[in-house]
Amino acid sequence: MDKLLITGGNRLSGEITVSGAKNAALPILCAGLLTADDIKLSNVPHLQDVSTMIKLLQQMGLRADRDAEQVLLNGSAVDKLEAPYEMVKTMRASILVLGPLLARFGEAKVSLPGGCAIGSRPVDQHIKGLQAMGAEIAIEAGYIHAKAKRLKGTRVVTDMITVTGTENLLMAATLADGRTVLENAAREPEVTDLANLLVKMGARIEGIGTDRLVVDGVERLHGASHAVIADRIETGTFLCAVAAAGGDVTLSNTRSDLLDVAMDKLREAGAVLTSGPDWIRVQMASRPKAVSFRTTEYPGFPTDMQAQFMAVNSIADGVSRVTETIFENRFMHVQEMNRLGAAIVIEGNTAIIDGVEQLFGAPVMATDLRASASLVIAGLAAKGETMVDRIYHLDRGYDRMELKLRAVGARIERVKS
Ligand code: EPU
Repeated sequence: MDKLLITGGNRLSGEITVSGAKNAALPILCAGLLTADDIKLSNVPHLQDVSTMIKLLQQMGLRADRDAEQVLLNGSAVDKLEAPYEMVKTMRASILVLGPLLARFGEAKVSLPGGCAIGSRPVDQHIKGLQAMGAEIAIEAGYIHAKAKRLKGTRVVTDMITVTGTENLLMAATLADGRTVLENAAREPEVTDLANLLVKMGARIEGIGTDRLVVDGVERLHGASHAVIADRIETGTFLCAVAAAGGDVTLSNTRSDLLDVAMDKLREAGAVLTSGPDWIRVQMASRPKAVSFRTTEYPGFPTDMQAQFMAVNSIADGVSRVTETIFENRFMHVQEMNRLGAAIVIEGNTAIIDGVEQLFGAPVMATDLRASASLVIAGLAAKGETMVDRIYHLDRGYDRMELKLRAVGARIERVKS
């Protein structure tokens, strides 16, 4: 297993190009199942999760040709309507094939995702929505077996806001008979990006970007071209890296309007942020100030940025409180940060962070994707060497992170096992 060796203390300066969003690319690749025509995608990030999704789709008979950041999909020969456990267990987002397969082929067999490091993450809302649309669903031997001659439009109110649940139901609704209204829909920019592609494919969707999506089903969808939106979480991760290590970095190929709340919090922490239509510049000259926040659905503070901000708070001046409201077990980075000298205690779903003047390098272990990113940030700010183990988590969701950080002056290298 590869590790990252970080020697902290360098300020960061220069330019980083942000990649396309993982959590937009994954559902968008699955939208290729909805049509027999070509879908041309650009700005697709180089990530393990994207490779896993492409492999899964290819197993189903979808043609997927990749050339750098471009992927050409063709769904004319899809014939295997199954997502096996071996794939789903490595990537929960595999559940996103369920809606498109059922909508276009009237049948799907998808393994139930198992447990997850950050919370239990059931998919009951995906199932409830598809059942409301007339699907017959049986759970047998760990698999969801779904059937429907043609899904029927209806009103679906999910019990909670779910990102991939909204995406699955949205894709299903595009080919359903009649009007589907998705209430309590997720408003994350990645849902909007998927919806924009679906409209280019001929879907009739209103309310894009709101919590009420109205979809009038069509008989068939056609081909389209689409550029995946910028990764707001990768963007925010690099902003936090500069806030923690100090420096002056410009992020290009990204958008500040995708992360308003996180940017406000960074300003509160003392960062100077300026932006244009496709870039953000961050300057940090002093020790950060402690900032408190609670995670919520978009447009609130993203749970996927919680760990990275905690790394900034760990060396900030003052005491902060961070409350996680989306996932029940997303504080696994806390024990590792404390190994670097942070002073963080957990009370229920709140972490109380007493900022220390200095972290000190140590071996730490990554437990999930965003926790890994937070440990890299802490390592950049720490004195001495930090070895981050199990970085396969990081490779799942960050496109060549160590190369991008090295280009702005970080001392970070991959140690191959
Ligand atoms: N939930 C249910 N039942 C469901 C669906 C969700 O109880 O049927 C619960 C979940 O357990 C969780 C909450 O609802 O407590 C929200 O979960 P959601 O379904 O929104 O999460 P997700 O769709 O599985 C996506 C991202 C995550 C991100 C969350 C929240 C993708 C592929 N994944 O997951 O990204 O944290 O939304 O914004 O889009 C990451 O990139 O590191 C990551 C974990």
